[in-house]
Amino acid sequence: MTQAKWTDIGALEGLSAQPVSRVRIDGTALAVTFKDGVFGVVSNACNHVGGPLGEGRLDGDYVVCPWHGWKYHRCSGQGEPGSETDFVPSYPVKVENGRVMVDLANATPRVKTPHAPHPLARPVTRAPGPLRLLGLSTTAMDAQNPRFSGSDHVLKAAVDAAAANGAETKTIKLNDLNFRTCEGYYSKAAHACTWPCSITQMDSKDQMDQVYEALVHWADAIIVATPIRWGAASSLYFKMAERLNCVQNAITIQNRVLIRNKVAGFIIIGGQDNIQSVAGQMLGFFGELGYVFPQFPYIAHSRGWTHEDMENNVRIVAHSEELRKGAEELAERCLGMARTLIDKDEAPASIERGGRKAHRLIGGD
Ligand code: FES
Repeated sequence: MTQAKWTDIGALEGLSAQPVSRVRIDGTALAVTFKDGVFGVVSNACNHVGGPLGEGRLDGDYVVCPWHGWKYHRCSGQGEPGSETDFVPSYPVKVENGRVMVDLANATPRVKTPHAPHPLARPVTRAPGPLRLLGLSTTAMDAQNPRFSGSDHVLKAAVDAAAANGAETKTIKLNDLNFRTCEGYYSKAAHACTWPCSITQMDSKDQMDQVYEALVHWADAIIVATPIRWGAASSLYFKMAERLNCVQNAITIQNRVLIRNKVAGFIIIGGQDNIQSVAGQMLGFFGELGYVFPQFPYIAHSRGWTHEDMENNVRIVAHSEELRKGAEELAERCLGMARTLIDKDEAPASIERGGRKAHRLIGGD
């Protein structure tokens, strides 16, 4: 044990007033806890990706990281049961004359135990085999009482055509998946929004992993189908898009491009208009993820403001030869472009994007 360096970190009255506080002293950031009349002091920096423990909360005698929920004993710094081999530094602490004193010279060591990486974290390399097309349905409906969906109907024509042309195909209906809304990790700190998604890493029941697997690892081309709801894509589309922030954020925080040599096309079906606005959002968003687009990247249908006779709209979409043919050709264009991209393999794996950098906080401070 080195000679103690007792350092005054604040008044007993102030630090005992809340269960968790963050204190920075002599260049060291600390998470100070107070429970049942006893102080605990550990490093502020979480072992995972540096989240600020001093901004967390107490769960019994464990301080919970506010970024992704890892827990450490508030006095010993030991990880919660199941992660007992993980330690954040803990510090001797005492109270003298109404002041809280911490021995900064005798912190216990930080021990980071390697955690098995999430399966999605594996390197992104295209598995050999035929071209692969994913149909992604974003329409929402009552699964017990399904109705005709125009966007799903046209999507099926595209996926069937791709299969008939020798591609491997798969359809994911977001409506069938149970997944949580994005909880705004990015808004806590850019580095809190991780790949794989923070929620996916914490919650094995969350089914967004199926979308990540298909988009990042499996598909060469995707066709995303949406209805128009109040002039925008569906609510499920946006729920998914927010969860895909981690794919884009991998570029911002790690300069790591996860989507390479992949193509996206879109099917937009509505009763009223606003197709170009919906298409603009989708093109902009999927472009930011790294997708490229074939010539004429979307097909669409709407009859405009003065046609609210939706029964007729359904009939038109269900029997439209034009839409069926358009969907088949969209699939062909997407797969054709994917073939070219894969053969050339020129997509960058990292990219400098002016003005879009995340700054890492030092030592969890
Ligand atoms: S749990 Fe602490 S940074 Fe992720």
